Amino acid sequence: MAEAEPYRICFVCLGNICRSPTAEGVMTHLVEQAGLADQIAVDSAGTAGYHSGGPPDSRSAAEALRHGIDIGHQRSRQFNAGDFVFFDLVLAMDQSNMTDLVDLAHNRETADKVRRLREFDPTADSLDVPDPYYEDGFDGVFAMIERACEGLLEHVRHQLGV
Ligand code: 4NP
Repeated sequence: MAEAEPYRICFVCLGNICRSPTAEGVMTHLVEQAGLADQIAVDSAGTAGYHSGGPPDSRSAAEALRHGIDIGHQRSRQFNAGDFVFFDLVLAMDQSNMTDLVDLAHNRETADKVRRLREFDPTADSLDVPDPYYEDGFDGVFAMIERACEGLLEHVRHQLGV
């Protein structure tokens, strides 16, 4: 019998060099720890193409590595409307990303695939993962993403019954 297709998740921020690569790294790590790598596939992209083909921001990569997660191999790419066919769940880092993604969706069913990552953190005081590019606080951003990804994994496990 053919292998079942995995459940496909794509994390999306603006540049795909800070927040969404971190989320891809954290979620990949959690999925592997749970032994679900063949059932849940994880990717990331940006709404903008400014950094297409480039590596993660060195500050994000260093923060992830402090937590034992290597994201250095990732390369930035721009999210496109065709990605909605491939992914089951598209997770925006903030309201601006969410608005851009919903604008790109052709119809309501497609737009319904878009959620904000922090919806999956019941302790979150805001639904946005703030853009750290011109700021600092990469440690705080990592912690927010990690908490939300733990909740997200529980949600997906429930959806899949695994
Ligand atoms: P990200 O952060 O969306 O978390 O990857 C940013 C990266 C680059 C820029 C803005 C935000 N930029 O303007 O180049």
